[in-house]
Amino acid sequence: MAPPKKQVVGPLHLRTRSPEETVELAAAFGRLCRAGDVVCLQGTLGAGKTHFTKGMAEGLGVENTENVTSPTFVLLKKYRGDKLTLNHFDAYRLHGASEMQDIGCEEIFSGGGVSVVEWADRVVECLPEEHFLVTIRIIGTDVRDILLGTSGTGLADRIEEITETLQPWSAGDNA
Ligand SMILES: Nc1ncnc2c1ncn2[C@@H]1O[C@H](COP(=O)(O)OP(=O)(O)OP(=O)(O)O)[C@@H](O)[C@H]1O
Ligand SMILES: [Mg+2]
Repeated sequence: MAPPKKQVVGPLHLRTRSPEETVELAAAFGRLCRAGDVVCLQGTLGAGKTHFTKGMAEGLGVENTENVTSPTFVLLKKYRGDKLTLNHFDAYRLHGASEMQDIGCEEIFSGGGVSVVEWADRVVECLPEEHFLVTIRIIGTDVRDILLGTSGTGLADRIEEITETLQPWSAGDNA
């Protein structure tokens, strides 16, 4: 028998018009994140993945979020928040998922913090089935479309609260 189809809910269609707005949106999202959440970011160079991560850190109560920069050369940075730690991966320079596995991403994903993965599309094999998927598209110099969805069935019941909270940034065409 064929395996059950992966259920993908959403995505929620959001829009920001400045880097600061992306940080604010992601902070609101970060405040709703829970231990064990994995947030996968995709989008081209300069789309805004690191700004989104900075916002999530702010939402998790990390101090000195100016330290939230692309961990391109270190693969993983950890920021301690009020309640939860944010694990920030950047897969840009990786040659595949095995390098993520080598640093123990599985234990980190399932641990007590929240994880965010820039360039998640490069390491799909090591991502947990249940994750948030955030796709950032460059629309204009300062305009970004942000699609936020879930993969797996376990996160679907979180979408309602997330949709309400992120309403101020709605692109206006969500069902
Ligand atoms: N609405 C916006 N949201 C986010 N960033 C924006 C926005 N408008 C303009 N920008 C600019 O786009 C750039 C986004 O940079 P950022 O480092 O966050 O991207 P990235 O996706 O992490 O890039 P990389 O692929 O190099 O890691 C910054 O220069 C930022 O000022
Ligand atoms: Mg980046």
